[in-house]
Amino acid sequence: AEPLRIALAGLGTVGAGVIRLLDANRELITRRAGREIAIVAVSARDRTKDRGVDLSRFAWEDDMTAMAARGDVDVVVELVGGSDGPALTLARNAIRDGKALVTANKAMIAHHGLSLAKEAETAGVALKFEAAVAGGIPVIKGLREGAAANAIERIYGILNGTCNYILSTMEDTGRDFGDVLGDAQRLGYAESDPTFDIEGIDAAHKLSILASIAFGAELDFANVDTTGISALRAADIAQAESLGYVIRLIGLAETDQGGGGQTRLFQRVQPCLVPYGHPLAHVDGPTNAVVTEGNFSGRLLFQGAGAGDGPTASAVVADLIDIARGEIGAAFSVPVDELEKLEPATSGHR
Ligand code: NDP
Ligand code: HSE
Repeated sequence: AEPLRIALAGLGTVGAGVIRLLDANRELITRRAGREIAIVAVSARDRTKDRGVDLSRFAWEDDMTAMAARGDVDVVVELVGGSDGPALTLARNAIRDGKALVTANKAMIAHHGLSLAKEAETAGVALKFEAAVAGGIPVIKGLREGAAANAIERIYGILNGTCNYILSTMEDTGRDFGDVLGDAQRLGYAESDPTFDIEGIDAAHKLSILASIAFGAELDFANVDTTGISALRAADIAQAESLGYVIRLIGLAETDQGGGGQTRLFQRVQPCLVPYGHPLAHVDGPTNAVVTEGNFSGRLLFQGAGAGDGPTASAVVADLIDIARGEIGAAFSVPVDELEKLEPATSGHR
């Protein structure tokens, strides 16, 4: 079979991880995908940077947004970041040019996921973003496929690896917030602007994506009630511990019935006290954990590395394998025009 030809935009933590993974697992990936997955072109800001991977085998594009127009490319992989800017231009160009798009960019999907999905449906190409939520955990596939037969009643969990790393490390070592955040940045867990992590925005991006898929509802990032962890101090963590709790940044989405009988969507990200006996209290480091409650499946717990090069690359390449096998599917659980528009249930409603 012909190889699936990839243009890779972004060669940072995740982009370089994807190259390493495709090199390391080439044979098994080719077997499972039914054909080779071959990078043909790459792009980033700085051509001279040493990224620990051999780039000499690939064509270099200075203008990443032009990669979409290459005739020798089937799929564009966007690993740049940012809700707008070059990432969004590249994404739109790719879809308009009939290329499938794979991205790890939750900010872009939270803001523009519906319009991108609509464009992808019109163009008849795949739009996939497994890596955008919970790093290496196949939670989008789990929801869309594994739990597809269920009405989901609630979905919640730890959705930001950086915050979880900060909170659990402060808990274990008593170290200072800023110090531990610096480690998370060095380890490649944090966003290029870590405000997105510590103010809960990244978790809110992910929660809105999960809620859309879980409830078959239009994505509604603007109505996630969001509080981050930046105001927490070591003393808060110690105080919680003395009462038998840990503090975790939790995202939760659920539906309820409003006074007029209409279904409403409640979405909130906030630091929560979690009792020692609860499984989420033992989720440490950059780990994420997502709990779904389905009306027939019951409670499912998805847990694993939520950030970092290897786990995130694993999710990106899983999407590429799906595309190589010819699986297009709806980007969300149903085509965009069939998603329900739910009224937001703000905290004032509850
Ligand atoms: P990095 O900052 O490590 O890498 C970003 C890459 O994009 C770099 O290669 C950079 O080029 C390139 N880039 C950035 N801005 C531009 C620009 N204006 N023009 C051209 N190239 C640009 O980010 P990550 O790899 O960590 O993240 C990539 C995406 O994956 C983001 O959307 C992020 O949210 C998402 N993600 C990250 C995870 C993680 O654990 N790190 C986990 C899940 C998702 P250069 O190297 O030359 O500066
Ligand atoms: N900055 C994100 C996190 C990366 O820490 O969870 C994974 O999406």
